[in-house]
Amino acid sequence: MIRAVLVVGALALGVTSVVAEGNVIEQRQSLMKDLSAKARPVTAALRGQAPFDLGQVQTALRTYSEHAKVLPTMFPENSKSGKTDALPTVWENKSDFEARFAKLAADAQTALATVKDEESFKAEFPKVMKNCGGCHEKFRKPS
Ligand code: HEC
Repeated sequence: MIRAVLVVGALALGVTSVVAEGNVIEQRQSLMKDLSAKARPVTAALRGQAPFDLGQVQTALRTYSEHAKVLPTMFPENSKSGKTDALPTVWENKSDFEARFAKLAADAQTALATVKDEESFKAEFPKVMKNCGGCHEKFRKPS
């Protein structure tokens, strides 16, 4: 009886860890997608193709800051292969990679404190967005 419980327990553990590994790639991709979904209306405003909306800008910046704190934990060693566009450089330069997320979070926080109107938005927001392309260039497969 005890043995049967242990076997069932071990099987259950095995299954959950497989599911968790498979999901972490999808989870980080879905957070990344959320970053660009929040960026879309705001970058349109940057180009003058949509009205400036402070609330929308703040929502984007808060999302950047929150996701940038979680994302570094979503690149475990066992998630190098599979349906991922992350380059091996992520794991070869882990401290640089993680520092870039920290910088994105810090820049988003700074912009949250300094963006008050359209003028400060146009000055500050592009600095935050530079973090995206800067990291992709080095750590993501070109599409
Ligand atoms: C520190 C590095 C880093 C930063 C900063 C970063 N990204 Fe990424 N991004 C990646 C990596 C690595 C991938 C590939 C993830 C994968 O496929 O496993 C990615 C993937 C993506 C994807 C594709 C997701 C998919 O559908 O597979 C989008 C969209 C994206 N990032 C948007 C952004 C935006 C917008 C920002 C800035 C607000 C940003 N990223 C900041 C590293 C970064």
